[in-house]
Amino acid sequence: MDGAALRAPERHPGPTERLRADARRHLWHWGVQLATWPEAPLTLVEGRGTTVVDADGREYLDAISGLGVVQVGHGCGEIAEAVAAQARRLAFASLANGVSNDVATRLSVEIARLAPGDLEVSFLTTGGGEAVETAIKMARQYHALSGEPRRTKLIAREGSYHGLTLGALSATGVAVSRRPFEPLLPGFHHVEHPEPARFDGTSEECGELALRSLEARIEFEGPETIAAFIAEPVSTAGAIKVPPPNYWPGVQRICARHGILLIVDEIFCGFGRTGRMFGGEHWDVRPDIMTLAKGITSGYAPLSATVTSRRIADAFWAGPETEFQHAATSAGHPVSCAAALVNIAVIERDGLVDRAAEMGALLGDALRPLVELDGVSHVSGIGLLWGVELERPDPARIRRLLAALRERGVLARGSATNVFLYPPLIVTAAEVDLLAGAVADALTISASE
Ligand SMILES: Cc1ncc(COP(=O)(O)O)c(C=O)c1O
Repeated sequence: MDGAALRAPERHPGPTERLRADARRHLWHWGVQLATWPEAPLTLVEGRGTTVVDADGREYLDAISGLGVVQVGHGCGEIAEAVAAQARRLAFASLANGVSNDVATRLSVEIARLAPGDLEVSFLTTGGGEAVETAIKMARQYHALSGEPRRTKLIAREGSYHGLTLGALSATGVAVSRRPFEPLLPGFHHVEHPEPARFDGTSEECGELALRSLEARIEFEGPETIAAFIAEPVSTAGAIKVPPPNYWPGVQRICARHGILLIVDEIFCGFGRTGRMFGGEHWDVRPDIMTLAKGITSGYAPLSATVTSRRIADAFWAGPETEFQHAATSAGHPVSCAAALVNIAVIERDGLVDRAAEMGALLGDALRPLVELDGVSHVSGIGLLWGVELERPDPARIRRLLAALRERGVLARGSATNVFLYPPLIVTAAEVDLLAGAVADALTISASE
């Protein structure tokens, strides 16, 4: 996309204003209070490749892939056709009571082919939080079935995000999300996150400190009471936190030593986002359970998966008395599975994982010099997953920055300290340039207001 080629807004005052008013009144949004938000909500109506179009006809480079979802880009005809064809052929079939369906089965084989280590059995659901809920319940019941019913506790990391349903929220370490719902589930504990970019010491020492925090918590709780440790390979909440090289091997060793299951949440990092098919591949992470969502369908239909090993699945599959006490009406939804199958085929055929690594390296090179700008402290990321961080929390500046980006035809996202950039994996070198240039301008403008 060329910045100069952005279409001028077309005027549809009647319908567009009505749409905005209706959105404010009848549709529950989140992240900002739309009802009192000073700006008119951006109402998207169309998407093509890396571009989204609003109700006024204005185009934006979608620098956040919807919400870290649209790996193959918008308007992919092959996936759209597969979805329509599947809806005509068999729109719905459950996975209950001895019924299966062909597309869900084919997808589970594809996931087994791609998944790291010995993961080969999928429990399919429809959203990320649901996949995490499934993982937590799977870990707990697995230990109960394996003669260790005291292993019920879960360890996660401070600041981590794993979803907002009550089980997933109990694992999530974001205080503001947790507060209104406390007390959350008992037995969920949070340990330190390795943050080399913010650590005053070597990255090795930073990894060691985080590992010590994990071990100390395990010792304190009693290893025989802990079901699982859950973490994202690269943390995406609040800031992009790429762990030091010694972190994941250490986590893997500690979990194995104490019989603690390792749940790797690949909901954001999976399907090429970090320049590998799964983020954990950067450190050869071998999960016992892996959660997937977002990029699994590139958003063409909702789908998530909780993937585990034969060993763990077999503990549940021995007979009626060991059945996993979990189910969902839309598990293995044929239309979502059809979308995922074609999405995975497109990612592989078009080499989008390597492309993410290549374009991600360009984006990183273009963003790193921004650390020299006023008030900017870090630029962190990997693959096509980047955050530019301010020295201190400044939500007002981030808001100005996002508005300035929008004026330049770029749709991004922010936290109190960071502006996030994770464009579709089909992004071009020219778009990477445009994006980095727009971020540089917006940072400068936002600093001076
Ligand atoms: C790492 C991670 N886990 C879980 C979730 C929850 O997914 P969902 O919003 O589909 O429930 C998200 C969503 O952003 C996520 O990034």
